[in-house]
Amino acid sequence: MVRKTAWKRHNLARSKRELILLLTMALSFSAILYIYYFSVKPSMPPETAFDGVVNQILSYYIMVCGRSGNDNQNTATQTTATAAPTVTKSVSLHYHIAHPLNYHFILDEPDKCSQWDPFLVLMVPVAPHQVEARNAIRSTWGNESTVQGKAVMTLFLVGLTGGSDSEKAQQQLEEESRQHRDLVQSNFVDSYFNLTIKTMVIMDWLATRCPQATYAMKIDTDMYVNLENLMTFLLAPNTPRQNYITGVVLWDRPVVRNKNSKWYVSEELYPEPKYPTYLLGTGYIFSNDLPEKIVEISKEVKAFNIEDAYVGACLKHLGIAPSSPPDPSQFRIYMGQYNREDFLRIISIVVGSPQKIMDVWKDVKSSR
Ligand SMILES: *[C@@H]1O[C@H](CO)[C@@H](O)[C@H](O)[C@H]1NC(C)=O
Ligand SMILES: *[C@@H]1O[C@H](CO)[C@@H](O)[C@H](O)[C@H]1NC(C)=O
Repeated sequence: MVRKTAWKRHNLARSKRELILLLTMALSFSAILYIYYFSVKPSMPPETAFDGVVNQILSYYIMVCGRSGNDNQNTATQTTATAAPTVTKSVSLHYHIAHPLNYHFILDEPDKCSQWDPFLVLMVPVAPHQVEARNAIRSTWGNESTVQGKAVMTLFLVGLTGGSDSEKAQQQLEEESRQHRDLVQSNFVDSYFNLTIKTMVIMDWLATRCPQATYAMKIDTDMYVNLENLMTFLLAPNTPRQNYITGVVLWDRPVVRNKNSKWYVSEELYPEPKYPTYLLGTGYIFSNDLPEKIVEISKEVKAFNIEDAYVGACLKHLGIAPSSPPDPSQFRIYMGQYNREDFLRIISIVVGSPQKIMDVWKDVKSSR
């Protein structure tokens, strides 16, 4: 009860001013990065310059903001969700608020994995209203069913629709689900604050509906994935198939204690000053034995609202260390100036809008 009230209170603490500040900061960082990138490029090998700068900016951004992420989506998601107090809650708290046992699937694809037998499952958390983002992914990297002879499957994970027209929105989702058979919906209210719940539901779905897959990836909607390169990496003899998780590794990130921040976490929810090593939530890849282990251990790990750091806390309890990928420059958190050569060698990169994902996809495909 105390915990639930605390979560609500943090929610209310977010203000418009904060959002504007964040947007301004994001824009300034982009501008700095852009200028810096081009001013240092000639004097350094492009890869080094780019990644060095990206890391600096990322460190600073995360230091100030708590984590890097998908601000546009989050803002939009949050707006819908705050207007959603009408949904009745029948949550029985077996463990803490983020444990998947508290939730059930409303839309599900329980047989998809046994039919498809995927080697790799891409799980995309998305807000219910983001149909444009889903369609962009469906027509680009999400439409690849076989890569290097291995079956790949993409699913979208949504929570409950909110707002006054939530019934209509729900009907549209159900229609979309009948049409594409790629939606999984759970019965928590979809909001930025509830992303930890969403991630744990993703883990639960993988553990209960798809244990046969070898790998899974949690990937945001604003990302471009080069599945050829991802598959080459996963099929390499040195890539472990158990207790393995990789992506953009973050070390020693301080917990944000500023109550006005969107990434604020109270000492009650997370007492230590720093997060354990974790993987940036924009996209991380893991061997598919981990979801079951994470769901199980999470009973002992108190939930907090920073989903990627929470997965890090579960991994720490499991004694599993996140791994740096063999080539960290293949995981990019900033796109910079579009350059086809980059896209031919990366595994994942933050691109932005649905339109950008489609544009980039078209250009990269046309070069093959
Ligand atoms: C997915 O790819 C197939 C060809 O492999 C194509 O016919 C289909 O239109 C694509 N789907 C979307 C949503 O673009
Ligand atoms: C999810 O988030 C919303 C708003 O951010 C909140 O009202 C709700 O209680 C949260 N939890 C669940 C389980 O839906």
